[in-house]
Amino acid sequence: MQYRRLGHSGLQLSALSFGAWVTFGKQVGRGAARELIAAAWDHGINFFDNAEGYANGEAERVMGDAIADLRLPRDGFCVSSKVFFGAADAPRPTQKGLSRKHVHDACHAALARLRVDYLDLYFCHRPDPDAPVAETVWAMDTLIRQGKVLYWGTSEWPAALIREAADLARKHRLHPPTMEQPQYNLLHRERVELEYAPLYGELGLGTTIWSPLASGLLTGKYNEGVVGDSRLGQEGYQWLQRWVLGDSGERRVERARAFTALAAELGVAPAPLAIAWCLRNPHVSTVLTGATRVSQLLQNLEALDLDARIDDATWKRVEAAVR
Ligand SMILES: NC(=O)c1ccc[n+]([C@@H]2O[C@H](COP(=O)([O-])OP(=O)(O)OC[C@H]3O[C@@H](n4cnc5c(N)ncnc54)[C@H](OP(=O)(O)O)[C@@H]3O)[C@@H](O)[C@H]2O)c1
Repeated sequence: MQYRRLGHSGLQLSALSFGAWVTFGKQVGRGAARELIAAAWDHGINFFDNAEGYANGEAERVMGDAIADLRLPRDGFCVSSKVFFGAADAPRPTQKGLSRKHVHDACHAALARLRVDYLDLYFCHRPDPDAPVAETVWAMDTLIRQGKVLYWGTSEWPAALIREAADLARKHRLHPPTMEQPQYNLLHRERVELEYAPLYGELGLGTTIWSPLASGLLTGKYNEGVVGDSRLGQEGYQWLQRWVLGDSGERRVERARAFTALAAELGVAPAPLAIAWCLRNPHVSTVLTGATRVSQLLQNLEALDLDARIDDATWKRVEAAVR
């Protein structure tokens, strides 16, 4: 495993990390979840990502139980949660968003579900137009001062709002956001590469990027349509299917086909190739991966060795293939 600093902070995260979205509490059972955490840990992964909204908190329960069961040393791994969406199908006004109350309540609920005394990373899962940014910054700072959170950050916030939060923090001597969790993959690049570009140097912002495989699309598994035994084939995930496959104008499946054809020509599996491409960006602190079985996780770990085997001209061909 390789380790990278989370932005300008002193925290060293594994270059590949592991998240629970859709899988834990939904797609895979507790036994499989435990095997996935164990395999990730055995291969040096030290960051496990979660959110209050994943399976309404059940993903955190499954992850917390697996980590406790495996007796992973608390000082050897990092675990996160995210606040905003709530942990209920129809959350009441105080059960969602980024008010001081919900940030406080959601943090304590996540600590209990994950069975830890503190969260290493805590994210505001989306911006909340109904909560003043200053209130959220104060709420996060309070949790840090109480020792319940170590680093706080945002997920899919516009750059201007991240800067506003950082400016407020500086003005009032509060803890500023350390990291952002954006989507980043070969089909989705602008925010990480353009919008956030000034923030890496200005704020020392780290990134824990998500969906490096575009929910599996870049493995080629959807090249000929949606297969039942996969994320997009899950009951109740038709919205995700529409989002991942896009409309015909976006040509997303076509682009995935071109990418997987090139991977075949290069003699490498598409999944590690797509993940290795994300790792080439120095502003990526860690690539958050997901998997429903250990064999996928092991294949994805091959990404760590790929960059050394692929020259710049070939990477240009990879980028050209998905344009
Ligand atoms: N902050 C946010 O808003 C946000 C949003 C999304 C995700 N995230 C975080 O980022 C993590 C990773 O995102 P993601 O799960 O979307 O990542 P991803 O790598 O784009 O997709 C992972 C899924 O692709 C399939 N897959 C993975 N490796 C494969 C392989 N080698 N061969 C074939 N199929 C493979 C598996 O699904 P199947 O086996 O079902 O096909 C797996 O669950 C999440 O768990 C979550 O922690 C955050």
